[in-house]
This record gives sequence, C-alpha cells and structure tokens, in this order.
Amino acid sequence: MNGKMLWGSATASYQCEGAWNEDGKVESMWDHYLHQENLENGDVASDHYHRFREDIRQMAEGGQNAYRFSLSWPRIIKNESGEINEKGLDFYRQMIDACHENGIEPFVTCYHWDLPQYLEEKGGWLNKATAAAFQHYCEVVFKAFNGLVDHWTTFNEPKWFVFSGYMSGNYPPCHKNPQEVVNAAYNVMYANALAVKSFKELGILGSIGIVTSYQTIYGIDDSEACQLAFRNADNYCNNWIIDTACSGTFPSDMVAKLVAEGFDLSIAQPEELQLIKNNTVQFLGMNYYSPQFVKPYTGGETDVKVNNLGKNYKGNMRTVVKNWFEVANDDMTELPRNDWGMIVYPQGLREGLRRNSAKFSGPIYVTENGFGNYEDVHNGPVHDQYRIEYIREHVRYLLKAQSDGVDVRGYFVWSPFDLYSWKNGCEKRYGLVAVDFDHGCKRIPKDSYYWYRDEIASNWLDVR
Ligand code: NOJ
Repeated sequence: MNGKMLWGSATASYQCEGAWNEDGKVESMWDHYLHQENLENGDVASDHYHRFREDIRQMAEGGQNAYRFSLSWPRIIKNESGEINEKGLDFYRQMIDACHENGIEPFVTCYHWDLPQYLEEKGGWLNKATAAAFQHYCEVVFKAFNGLVDHWTTFNEPKWFVFSGYMSGNYPPCHKNPQEVVNAAYNVMYANALAVKSFKELGILGSIGIVTSYQTIYGIDDSEACQLAFRNADNYCNNWIIDTACSGTFPSDMVAKLVAEGFDLSIAQPEELQLIKNNTVQFLGMNYYSPQFVKPYTGGETDVKVNNLGKNYKGNMRTVVKNWFEVANDDMTELPRNDWGMIVYPQGLREGLRRNSAKFSGPIYVTENGFGNYEDVHNGPVHDQYRIEYIREHVRYLLKAQSDGVDVRGYFVWSPFDLYSWKNGCEKRYGLVAVDFDHGCKRIPKDSYYWYRDEIASNWLDVR
C-alpha cells in the first residue's frame, strides 16, 4: 500500500447541507419533488451549510483524516447555459479549506443525486445532453479546486439512483420503465467517461474514480440455474458500472441478454463506446452495507421491493427481476438484520473486495459503510453498541482483505453525524454524532464516535 490509510466518514450535499435556496442555489430535482409531494425534505437537514466548520473540527477531534462529501450541482451551475454561481464555489472552497486546516483530506463526489431541476425538466438522465452538462459542471469544479483535492469521484451509486428513478419509481422522476433504465444507465456511464476524459485532458492533479452501491452476490446453491441467476444479478447490481467504468466495456453477456429481450440499445453510438473504452477510472469506491442472496427466476413480472417504512413495513421483500433472478434474502432467516431488513454480513465486504480486486488493478476505497437505526437523541448520549459492532466487524473483514493482497486504501463510515436519509427521512439515523433535529440541530456524540476515534488511534489493534 502506498501512503496513509484514510479513515473517515461520508455525507452527501442534499442529505446534510440544508440551505436549499440560499446564496443563489437553484432547485434540485429532490427539492422540487419533495416540495411538490409534500414529503419530509432536506430544506434544513443537518444544517451543515452553516455548521460545516464545527462538523469538520469534530471529525478531526474524532481522529478522522478524511471527509467524503458531495458538491451540489444546483448550487454551482445556475442554468442550462452553464453559468456559474460563484457563491456556490466559494462555499465549497471554504469547506475544502476547513478540511485542510483540520488535517482532513477532502474526498469529493461530483454527483450524489441532486440533479438541477432545470435539467430534469429537459428529460434528466434520459437526455444525452445531461451527460454534456455534467461534463461542463465537472470541468468547472475540477478547475476551481485543482490541487486542493486528491480524490475525486464522478457519481455516487449509479445503480441506486437509476433503478430507483426509473424502475421502482421510488425516487424522482418516479418512472417505472425498463427501457428508460437502460437509457438512463447508459447516459450516466457515458457522462462518467466524459468527466474522466476532461479530468485527464485538463491535467487535474490527484485521481478520479466512481462509487458503486456494491452488493456481494451469493447464489443459494451451486446448481447451474443458480449460477446463471448469480451472473444475471451480478451484472444487474454491479458489473454494468464496475466493468464499464474500470475496464471500459459493458458486460457482453448482459448486452446480449438485453438485445435478446428486445431492448432498444440504439442510444449507444460507436464513437461514444470508444470514448468509454478510452476513459476509465483510476480507482474504485465501494459502498458496502449488505449482500444479496439470489436464486433462479421462477415466474411473474418484475417486482422490486423497497422498505422505506422500517419496522412498520409489513409483508415480504420478495423481489423478482423477470427472466433474470429472484432475491432470496427472505430465505436467509438466520442472518441478523436492521429494522429496515438490511442483512448484516461483514464477510461480504472481504469477498466483494477480493472479487473487485481480481478484475480491477487500481486502488479501492470503501466509500460508505454504516448502520441505520431508530435512536432517541433527547435523553442523553446514544449508546450505539450495535453500530460499534457493525463497524468493527466490517473493518475486521476489510483488514483481512488487505492481508489477502487487496489494495484497499480507505474506509468511510456513513455518516459523521445524523442526516436526512431520502425516503427514510431523518428517523433512520446513521451518525457517529447525533443531531437533534427538533432542537436547533444540536450535535451530541454517540458512543461510536469516541470508539472510532480510539480505534483509529490504536490502528485497530484489537481488531487485527
Ligand atoms: C447510500 C447512499 O449513498 C446514501 O445517500 C444513503 O443515504 C446511504 N447509502 C444509506 O442508505
């Protein structure tokens, strides 16, 4: 391993900043959608926009040496013609400076789902022009912060925002259309390559990667049918991002399957595919929370379940992707899970790291990992032993992967402090530090905050 290991935590602009309409920021698709539907929103969130100095200092005092955060595109680019909001850039310049002043390395994500609404109105990720707009936005931030940031990433979790936006309809623009999934997915991967191309051509210092919502896939048995389900699920969940961004080509069997199923792939132009081929990322970010157990498809229409109700969720999570695979997580009754049904399986992190390092020679960062829970933050500090155990076990398997030879160079807890969790609102808490949303967003460190600090200081002595 070269250089120091990064031990930090991660957030996203919409989930923590608040200040949704301050200092020239325009509406994002999430502002628009949540306001229109009158749903819990991130208008204030954790008020990080006004408290980032305090938050970053607290990270440093908590022993962390890196902070992964995203830039808000609608804070920086005002309109379709690409005009810059200097105040937006100033805000992030101050954030980056605060990181450096505290000995924290800024690890920057360009896109964590808050598309400007003016682009959504023109078709969002279904419109190839959004890829060009993304390239312009990235060039603006690359140039503005060149030399101040060592690690850049283009997208956070393409699978999650594309599938939630166009397949399950759970996120804006709330469509349910498999052909649109294919088109949006393609445009995002093309946008990724365009940004990487600009990064290289502009000679920006540091390196550029992409972040995936990695799910380690396990077939429930060794049958041939299950091996096929495994491959389909791996393509569906992981490979269309990782293979494309890291090796420059979409998985060929997946492309063949899409063609056989009658999907229209004419969106992919030969010169664009060549550009994707030529502009691969330099590192991979893996967000790992949970594995995915799969079994062969047995019948029925595609049905993707999402639990946004936590312990109030009734019914099963039987997820089917027609002709591809079925999710078998419900069958794994012996495995622990949180109130949102997320299976806790730290071994999956080691396995995922190994699988990815077998196909990609660049460095890997675990860009998110954490435990969401209901927590009472009004009656003294939160004693979150469950979170400590979750993080400890995942770091244990990360260190094992490192001993296996995987070039993993960083680990980020999601999240440094409580924030707004999209459709799960603020009651699903992930923070090392509690945020009392009802009382001026007061910060109160949880047990895990001090524990993480001490583990980093001892270099995880008791975990190794
Ligand atoms: C994935 C996403 O990157 C983040 O936005 C989300 O809140 C967390 N994981 C927790 O689900």
